Amino acid sequence: MIALGCDHGGYELMQEVKKYLEDHQLEYKDFGTYTTESCDYPVYGKKVARAVASGECDKGILICGTGLGITMAASRVPGIRAAVCTNEYMARLTREHNDANILGMGARVIGAGTALSIVETFLNTSFSEGERHKKRIAMIEED
Ligand code: RB5
Repeated sequence: MIALGCDHGGYELMQEVKKYLEDHQLEYKDFGTYTTESCDYPVYGKKVARAVASGECDKGILICGTGLGITMAASRVPGIRAAVCTNEYMARLTREHNDANILGMGARVIGAGTALSIVETFLNTSFSEGERHKKRIAMIEED
C-alpha cells in the first residue's frame, strides 16, 4: 500500500501519479489534499509519514510545488527517510543507498513524464542491503 499526499501545488501532478498507480494495479491510500485550494503542506507530509512509520503503508509519495517543504515535514517523523528526487538516478540511488521510504517531487520543477519515470524507479528499486549503507542509515536516527 502506497501512501499519497500533496498540497495545492502538487494536486494536479498527483492525479497523474494516481492514474499511473491504477494502470499498474498498485494500491494506494490518498491522504489529500483533495482540491487545488491553498493549504499547508506539513499537514499532508506528516499524515503520509505517520502512515509509513506505523507500517500502515509500505512507502509514500509526496508532491508540493518544489517537493521541498512537504518532504522536510515528513522527515521529522522518526523512521522516515523522505527524499526529493528530480531524476531517475536520484530515485534509484536513494532506494539503493538510503532505503528512502518516501519519495518527494516538485510539480513546479519537473514534468509529468519525468515524475512518472521517477515513481517507477523508486517503487521498483530495492535497498542494496550493503553493510555500510545500513550503518549510515542507523546514524541518521542518532541524536
Ligand atoms: C506553496 O506555494 C509552496 O510553498 C509549496 O507547494 C512548496 O513548494 C513548499 O515547499
